[in-house]
Amino acid sequence: MSQAIITIDGPAASGKSTVAKRVAQALGCVFLDTGAMYRTVTLACMTAGIDLRDPEAVLRVMDSHTFEFDQVSAKIDDQTVSEAIRDPKVTDHVKFIAGAPTIRGRLVEMQRRFAETHPVFVTEGRDQGTVAFPNAQVKIFLTADPVERAKRRLAELQARGLDQDLDSLVQAVNDRDRSDEQRDTGPLKAAHDARLVDTTGLTVDGVVDLILGHVRDLCPALFPSETA
Ligand code: DC
Repeated sequence: MSQAIITIDGPAASGKSTVAKRVAQALGCVFLDTGAMYRTVTLACMTAGIDLRDPEAVLRVMDSHTFEFDQVSAKIDDQTVSEAIRDPKVTDHVKFIAGAPTIRGRLVEMQRRFAETHPVFVTEGRDQGTVAFPNAQVKIFLTADPVERAKRRLAELQARGLDQDLDSLVQAVNDRDRSDEQRDTGPLKAAHDARLVDTTGLTVDGVVDLILGHVRDLCPALFPSETA
């Protein structure tokens, strides 16, 4: 198979990064965390002290730094920011970056450039199956109950020594869903040909197995030992 792109889209805290990483490991390929790209640009702009609502100023910040993403880290000018981009302040501000069509266009270009050098990869985000890679071979759309997603986010924050109350996290998850679903460019929505996977009540292993089942079904060539 010359190219196989597996897109995993879904709302905040639906478990996309964790399962995308595990699916990529199982397939022996790389994965792209596009949320990290939006977060990294947000952090660079916050550090530069510019108005995040001004897309021209954001594009100038993007032009004046180098951004690097690989499976495990995000970097701005060689400085690792993988932890810093998960700070709740960055999470709160990312909607300004995610809502601007010109900035989204620039990031989608970077994602497509990644595809030129990686024949098989898993990519996760909000618009990967709809906008960035409408011809992807496998499209997955993850969903999960908002309270369960807020609980997962709380566990993640607590593991990093941060605390927040569950009610405000449920509110934040719902707000982010609304802002992701309502933007005009690259809104959060399932591609018409996506396979839906509801992760409510499932373990990570369970979700990974379901997704690998869809990949096996749509791209048997990725499992050569089974088709030989
Ligand atoms: O998946 P995440 O929480 O790391 O994403 C951070 C933000 O980036 C999220 O609020 C929506 C935005 N995003 C986006 O608009 N499009 C993508 N492809 C990925 C993320």
